[in-house]
This record gives sequence, C-alpha cells and structure tokens, in this order.
Amino acid sequence: MNLTILKTRSDLENWRKQSKNQPIHFVPTMGCLHQGHKALIKAAKSSSKEQLARVLVSIFVNPLQFAKGEDFSTYPRNLEQDCNTAMSAGASAIWAPEFETLFPKGKEHYFTIKAPSSLKEYLCGAHRKDHFDGVATIVLRLLNFVRPKKLYLGEKDWQQLVILRQLVKELGLQVEVRSIPTVRDKDGLAYSSRNKYLTAEERAKALTLPKLLLQESIQFQSNKDIDLNKLSSILKKNNLDVEYLETVDCKSLTPVNYYKSKFCLLAAAVHCGNTRLIDHIFLMNRKPIVAIDGPAGAGKSTVSKGFAKRLGLIYLDTGAMYRAVTWFIQKENINPDNEKELVKALSNLNVDINLADSGIQHVMLNDQEISNEIRHPKVTAAVSKIASKAAVREKLTAQQKFIGLKGGIVAEGRDIGSTVFPDAELKVFLTASSGERARRRANDLINQGFSVPNLQELENEIQERDKIDSTREIAPLVKAKDAKELVTDGMTIDKVIDTLIRIFREEIPAEVWPSN
Ligand code: PAF
Repeated sequence: MNLTILKTRSDLENWRKQSKNQPIHFVPTMGCLHQGHKALIKAAKSSSKEQLARVLVSIFVNPLQFAKGEDFSTYPRNLEQDCNTAMSAGASAIWAPEFETLFPKGKEHYFTIKAPSSLKEYLCGAHRKDHFDGVATIVLRLLNFVRPKKLYLGEKDWQQLVILRQLVKELGLQVEVRSIPTVRDKDGLAYSSRNKYLTAEERAKALTLPKLLLQESIQFQSNKDIDLNKLSSILKKNNLDVEYLETVDCKSLTPVNYYKSKFCLLAAAVHCGNTRLIDHIFLMNRKPIVAIDGPAGAGKSTVSKGFAKRLGLIYLDTGAMYRAVTWFIQKENINPDNEKELVKALSNLNVDINLADSGIQHVMLNDQEISNEIRHPKVTAAVSKIASKAAVREKLTAQQKFIGLKGGIVAEGRDIGSTVFPDAELKVFLTASSGERARRRANDLINQGFSVPNLQELENEIQERDKIDSTREIAPLVKAKDAKELVTDGMTIDKVIDTLIRIFREEIPAEVWPSN
C-alpha cells in the first residue's frame, strides 16, 4: 500500500476532496517518529473504523517553538523513514509542509497566539518562554487547514496537552481532542525524539528519572511523604541537571502541596549532557470516582451503567439503595415519621448492591434479592419522602462512602457530588426538561409492563418530586459547585455516554485510567 505524501496546501485540499465525507483523524508531529507517535497513529486508526475516517500525520519542525540556542537546526529530520513508520502504524497520508506553505508571506503577516500565562507559569513554560505560544500558533494553523474531526496528542507533553485542550475549547474549534498515555521503552525511558542524542552512558543516567518518579508514585499510594529536595539531590548525584521538579494540579498546572492533594502531577525536566528530557507521573492515592447527580427520570441509571461499563469502573446505584429501604419500610409497615421506630428498623438493615459479570445489578436486603420489587410504582411514589429522613441518609451515606474508599466507581444519585463524594474527580449534573423526562418515564413503565398515566400527570409528578428533592433540608438535590451540567434532551443514550466519556477524559488522563 502506498502512503500519500502531501506537500502543499493544494495537495492537502485535493486529498481532502478525494473523499468528501470521510472525517480526518489528525496526528501533528515534528517527525523523527518513534513508538510514542506510532501509538498515537494506531489510536487514531483504531477509532477511525466505525466512521471510516482517514488518519493524517503532519510532519513539521516548528521553528516558532524553539528559542535561540535550542536544537531547531539539529533536530533530527528523516522524511523517508518517518513515512515508513507512519504507514506501518496505519496513517493514510503524511502532510509535510514547508514553512512558506504555512506562512507564505512570512510569519510577521499572520496572527500568532499567546497561551494563557497562568498555564505556562510553571513547568516547561517557566523555562521555555515562548515555547507554548509557538506550539499553539502552529497547531491552530494546522487545524485550520486540516479541519479534522479528532486531534490526537500524547500525554507525555502534559502541559502542551492542557494548553491545546483549552485552545480548542476557548476558540470553539470543532475538533475532539484525544490523548494517549506516555509510551516507554523497555528500560522505562519515555520515548522522545531527543533520546537519539543520548550516549549509552547518558541513557543509563537518564533512567534515574523515570525510576524515581515511579517509586514516588508507589510511596504516594501508601500515603508516604515525598521529599522534592531529596529527589532533586538524587537526580543531581546521577549527573542530571534539574531544570524543575514540581508537584502541580493536573489542570490548572499551578503548584500544589502533594500531601494535601489526592491527585496531582509530579513533573520534571532534566538536562542529561546536552539533552533536555521531560517526564512525569500522576500521583493518586485511590482509583478515580465519578459522581453523577440529577433529577428523577434524567436517565442517570441507564447512562451511568453504560458509562461505567465502557470505562471498566464499578457502577454504584445509590437510588436503588434508597428504594430498597423504602420497600422495606412499606413492607414492615414502619411509620417513617416516627424517628425512634425508623432508627430501630434501620439498625438491623443491610443493603448491598452486587454486580454480576453480566453487568446486571442485584439489590440485596439482608441477603434477600429485591431487584424487581424496588421498581414498583408504589416504591417510586414514596422514595423521595423516605430519602429525606436524616436517619436513612446517615445510614446509606456512610455505607456509600465505605464502598467508595478505594475508588474506581461511578456513583449515581442526588447528593453524590455534594455530600457522598465531594472529592470525586468528575462530577456531572445530568438533567433533562420535565417534559422529556415524563416521556422517558412513560416508555420505562410500558417496558416494565405497568400501566401508564397520561403524560401531563407524569410531568406533574416529576415536577413535584423535583421540588421535594431540591427543597428537603437534608442532602437536597443540588448541582455541586464544581459539577458539569449535561442537558440530555434529544440525545440518545449512546450520545450521552460518548459525551460523558469525553468529559471524563478531560479530567482523568488515560495514563491514570486507560480503558475506554
Ligand atoms: O508535540 C509536538 O510534536 C509538537 O509540539 C506539535 C504538537 C507537533 C506542534 O509543533
């Protein structure tokens, strides 16, 4: 199979026109392709199957991102070899423009972009002054010409990824950013085009960095202290000249006290001989937690279940736990307004949710399965009231927090982001208009074989329930301050799940939670 090599803008335009409807998955590079680039191309290729997308790899050593005295003129260039590498990984075409192709009249005649100063105050940005402005300027230009559906970037250059994500978001560019984890050689060194500069002896010294980072992340998981000064001196002892070694917030890229943080980035740049190397590791002391809250009938259960499955996370349906208690209270004829009676009944109650391998959840109450019983309209009608009882909330919140200790869950309910898991990495407020929710509820009832009241009645019921849920004194339904709102009117379940996965990926790097 031949790989198309495009040079000019008209080459690119003609290639685009050849197959009008095929979306483009774009991998921008500076050439000297290695396993890290190959992984990007493969990811672009594999997600292209369902949409018959074509993978375009650009090769352009961008002078705007090199400072005077850096290695622009000596940066390794080998187009033929790069073409073979790109083709073997699944690229459909390479675009290798000259500088004049991108800036025909010379760079001073074109807009340039300044990356937000807050995002380049630390890490590489603090040491390579105009670097990220140069990256943002060129990537924006490439995106304008290529007009891809998806843009693939490596997490190895984490600061670059954060800045480019913000560029895409802020300018409203119609491209989805996908990131892939840092790829490492067998000895642990992160692949970089600059590894070529290292002598064997230097490479052996350079390995101190990834080893140290890995060691520290393991320490962090067991809540042990990390001493940045000590780490710096170990690097120095190994002849690595430390440019920076910092712990920063993964998104704002500002310094954090790692010991107060549950999730941050430990990143470093070192000089090994004449070669500058960067590397990082994410510090996290439990698996990620996703909190999905929202009003009744917003489709939380179906969506959360599907989303958890796609990401290999465990689904925790807290609503089912409240339904289980409601069912029990009704069955035992307990007066929920009699606090003493309620507390007594709850003390011997054990609600558990087991997920079978098939993904079907089994709701257990003191070892009795009541998965079907809790879906009865009688339970639906009473669950809000029961869930507003302090004793009930206290009991189930404690149980949910316990289940979440190790993380790795998608918890769905009404107060997850605000009360149960306030430190969840991703909080989503999933909602839909009351009319849309009434229509969905009607369909659910039909599917479960129950009779369906008229839509207006259902909508009134839903509005009434919203009111109770959001005005109750204890754990009311509120959108947590840091939650992202997703209004799902007119969206299919798959579309909602895809959107959630995209939002998840903005918060949790593939390096931390790889499955998709
Ligand atoms: O990561 C790189 O190789 C470059 O910074 C990029 C994104 C291709 C822009 O020149």
